Amino acid sequence: MSQNIYDDPDFFAGYSRLPRQVHGLAGAPEWPALRAMLLDLTGSRVLDLGCGFGWFARWARDHGAAGVLGLDLSRRMIARAKADTDDPAITYRIADLETVALPGAAFDFAFSALAFHYVADFDRLVREVHRALTPGAHFVFSIEHPVFMAAARPRWTVDAEGRRTWPVDGYAAEGERRTDWLASGVVKHHRRIGTTLNALIAAGFAIRRVDEFAPSAEQVAQDPGLAEELERPMMLLLSVVRDAGR
Ligand SMILES: C[S@@+](CC[C@H](N)C(=O)[O-])C[C@H]1O[C@@H](n2cnc3c(N)ncnc32)[C@H](O)[C@@H]1O
Repeated sequence: MSQNIYDDPDFFAGYSRLPRQVHGLAGAPEWPALRAMLLDLTGSRVLDLGCGFGWFARWARDHGAAGVLGLDLSRRMIARAKADTDDPAITYRIADLETVALPGAAFDFAFSALAFHYVADFDRLVREVHRALTPGAHFVFSIEHPVFMAAARPRWTVDAEGRRTWPVDGYAAEGERRTDWLASGVVKHHRRIGTTLNALIAAGFAIRRVDEFAPSAEQVAQDPGLAEELERPMMLLLSVVRDAGR
């Protein structure tokens, strides 16, 4: 059964204070790169997996989507999404991506931001998303970068020249990882990049673009804390397209 850490009151309170939740998409440094992967959404039926507060669902509607279904495991996240949304064409529903059953060929575009690393059975999920999309539909998502997730504890050490180094620990050992972020014992699931790409290919998606997000010099100048993301990647952004035939 999936861990529902976003319903933990302390975790939720901490998460709600992050810039990306206070400012929405504009507070997410990787958003411009993710946005560049999107096609015109006009008239599209959109699926947002792990929708959180619904920032993307509302953006999609503002950019022409016909309707959006946002799914999330957390009752608190869904409640907040509903409270922040005044749009009958956006539906939010509590659902576990580990077991969710999606309607067939019901969506023209699927999106997810930073949710799939909480899912153990990625193969099943992408097969389900494939089934839910119309032929030729695009699927764009971000996950925590597997190099970031496999970083050893302590996360970095300082070398003889005073530079920080980030040892990657057990990269090939896929499976559960527990981290202390906003709460102790947060469960995530580590998969190599190859495993993620091969799951998508096996399900019937073609890879369009892979972006190991790194902030620009301008972004680092505005927010020096982002410099850390130049030392090792923190997010992996993927754009894939559903095959037309199957
Ligand atoms: C880092 S937040 C991202 C939220 C939103 N996509 C955004 O970018 O603002 C991860 C979200 O994934 C949801 N989540 C985690 N595990 C899930 C699961 N098994 N099924 C559905 N949602 C899940 C969490 O409740 C949380 O809302």
